[in-house]
Amino acid sequence: MSFFSYRDGTLCAENVPLDSIAARFGTPCYIYSRAALESAYREFELACGERDVLICYAVKANSNLAVLNLLARIGSGFDIVSGGELARVLAAGGSAAKTVFSGVGKSEAEIRTALDADVLCFNVESEGELDRLAALAARSGKVAPVSLRINPDVDPKTHPYIATGLQESKFGIAYDEALPLYRRAAQLPALRVTGIDVHIGSQITDVEPFVAALERVLEFIDVLDATGVHLDHLDLGGGLGIRYRDEAPPAVRDYLKPLFQRLRNRRLRVLFEPGRSLVGNTGILLTRVEYLKHGPAKNFVVTDAAMNDLLRPALYDAWHDVLPIVRRDGPAKRYDVVGPICESADFLARERSLALAPGDLLAVMSAGAYGMTMSSNYNSRPRPPEVIVDGETTHLVRERESTASLFASERLLP
Ligand code: LLP
Repeated sequence: MSFFSYRDGTLCAENVPLDSIAARFGTPCYIYSRAALESAYREFELACGERDVLICYAVKANSNLAVLNLLARIGSGFDIVSGGELARVLAAGGSAAKTVFSGVGKSEAEIRTALDADVLCFNVESEGELDRLAALAARSGKVAPVSLRINPDVDPKTHPYIATGLQESKFGIAYDEALPLYRRAAQLPALRVTGIDVHIGSQITDVEPFVAALERVLEFIDVLDATGVHLDHLDLGGGLGIRYRDEAPPAVRDYLKPLFQRLRNRRLRVLFEPGRSLVGNTGILLTRVEYLKHGPAKNFVVTDAAMNDLLRPALYDAWHDVLPIVRRDGPAKRYDVVGPICESADFLARERSLALAPGDLLAVMSAGAYGMTMSSNYNSRPRPPEVIVDGETTHLVRERESTASLFASERLLP
């Protein structure tokens, strides 16, 4: 079911025509569908069936407080990678007891705050971090719940920038080094070994690497069991891909089925950290055509959205569909859709066939994940507002930044 569809020739989010949102909130503007978000979460939950599972939504994909709050209300846990994300989860009504703390570079301050908040688990990624965590927990009289992130050396077959489970990656602990580290963790009184964790990458459209990673982790769990280290949970990370163009990612239940098959006889609680698969297709970036520029080699649509608003095309050469809000009759031309920023990498799409006039509105599709969260103020551009559509109702959930706020914290020399 699509939550963004044409009605009487106008693209709508649920029941709201997108041109009415542009009129009310201006462009560029991020727009999310509440029904799409909740349905993605429910689909994941339903596919988990009766198993003891905790879905820990990866906050980095979309960290708007209203998004986090809607997910918290329907029972989601969270996967965080910074003190900032922890603060957001708590401010949005999320539960620390359902929150896991991932990431390779946790600072002392971040660890202390997470200890105070009593997060569910620290997903530890190195020996140095384990020592730091043990020392800080001991100092604050706490016992820190710990899981080690194993690097399974599995190729997720995705863009190299978002592959994380290969040996040469900075993430996780090498398979061979994990056993002594587990033994050490088990002996430290300020740590309680509760789990194991693996995350091999993102936008993965094939089940096989997930299965391969799980099999490696299960072998490891057996070795741990034999040495007397028993775990409560297994965290399988995130990474399930979505369709941006013509990818055919497995449905959530087809992704989970082979994993649960291999976990059949195990009593472990299972955690997942889905980000993109929950929010990617729940959002779009709405933008207006400023100029059409016809050149000898190429035609350009210059939009008011740019790489600072949506970095994925510039950074990963990522494809996002671009749709007109109101379809226009007349001949289409091939265009690169570019922003006003002074970089040749500032494009949202390339070589698209569109019939357009200046002032037209466009939707950059599948922008709900890693859109707003990766945005910046490059070229001193205020970041766009975020809006959630719920049926006929439109809620502004983040205001457009003001230009003055961009330099409000800067100071001149005396
Ligand atoms: N867990 C951990 C430890 C992660 O590092 C990530 C994503 C996730 C879960 C969620 O993965 P997902 O289900 O969203 O694939 N900016 C890139 C994606 C970077 C992903 C980073 N880690 C993009 O726009 O494609």
